[in-house]
Amino acid sequence: MLTPTAEIVGAARAAGRGVGAFNVIQIEHAEAIVAGAERAGLPVVLQISENAVRYHGSLEPLGHATLAVARASSAHVAVHLDHATDVLLVRQAVTLGFGSVMYDASVLSYEDNVKATAAVVRDCHDHGVYVEAELGEVGGKDGVHAPGARTDPAEAAEYVGATGVDALAVAVGTSHAMLTRDATVDFGLVERLAATVPVPLVLHGSSGVSDDDLRRAVTSGMTKVNIATQLNKSFTAAVRSYLDANPSVVDTRKYLGAGRDAVADEVARLLTIVVG
Ligand code: G3H
Ligand code: ZN
Repeated sequence: MLTPTAEIVGAARAAGRGVGAFNVIQIEHAEAIVAGAERAGLPVVLQISENAVRYHGSLEPLGHATLAVARASSAHVAVHLDHATDVLLVRQAVTLGFGSVMYDASVLSYEDNVKATAAVVRDCHDHGVYVEAELGEVGGKDGVHAPGARTDPAEAAEYVGATGVDALAVAVGTSHAMLTRDATVDFGLVERLAATVPVPLVLHGSSGVSDDDLRRAVTSGMTKVNIATQLNKSFTAAVRSYLDANPSVVDTRKYLGAGRDAVADEVARLLTIVVG
C-alpha cells in the first residue's frame, strides 16, 4: 500500500532501524522491489531519480506506474523523487502524489544551498510532502569513487534548522555508482552526526558498502539506505546469463523477467540487512 515516506522513515528512526530505498529505472525495477519487500515482510522506498526522468523524457509515465505498483502492494511502500535539482520536477512529483522528494543543492555554496532548499521545503510542506536534502556532496555520480567529502555535524545541525528539511543525506565516505563493495564508511562520523542532527540520516552510494558495513552504518545511526547500482548489477548479470544460455530468444519478457527475479531476490536480501 502506498505509505507516506514520513511514516516509513520516521518509524524506522524511532526504532533505531534502517529502511532500504531502491531506484526505479523501468517498471520491472518497481515490480521487483515490491516483490522483494513483500517477501521480506518489510517496508521499502521506491525512488525515481532526475537522471531516470531524463532517460525517459518525463516523470509522468514511470511516476504513475511506480505509484500504481506501490498502491497494489501488500507491503508498505513509499514513492520518492531522488536527486532532483529542478524545482519544476519537484512540483510535478508533488502533483503526482509522491510522498517525498530529495532536493539536491549539494553542489551549491552553503548559503545558496540553504536558500534554495528552504524555499523547496516551504512549498513541499504546504502540500504535506517530506523533503530530503544533501549537505557535503556525496561524489561519484560520474562513476569515479570520490570518498573525500565529509559532512560537518555542527554545520549539518545548523543546516537542518535553517532549511526545515525532514531528512538529511550526508557524506561519510561513500560514493555513487561503485561496482565494488569496498567503500570505507566513517562510522565515528556517522555516530557524531546521529547525535547532533535532529532528523533521519540518509546514506547515499550504498552499493559500494559491504553487507557488514551496511548493518554497522545503521546501528551507528543511518536510517534511509539508498541503493541503485547493486540492483543494476543483479539485473544485468541475470539478463546476460539468460541471453548467453538462450541465444535465440527474442521475447523481451523472458530475459527482463530473469532480471526482475534477480532484483527481487537481492532486494529481499538487502532489506533484511539494512533493517539492522
Ligand atoms: O540516490 C541513490 C543512491 O545514492 C544510490 O547510489 O548507485 O551507488 O547505490 P548507488
Ligand atoms: Zn544518491
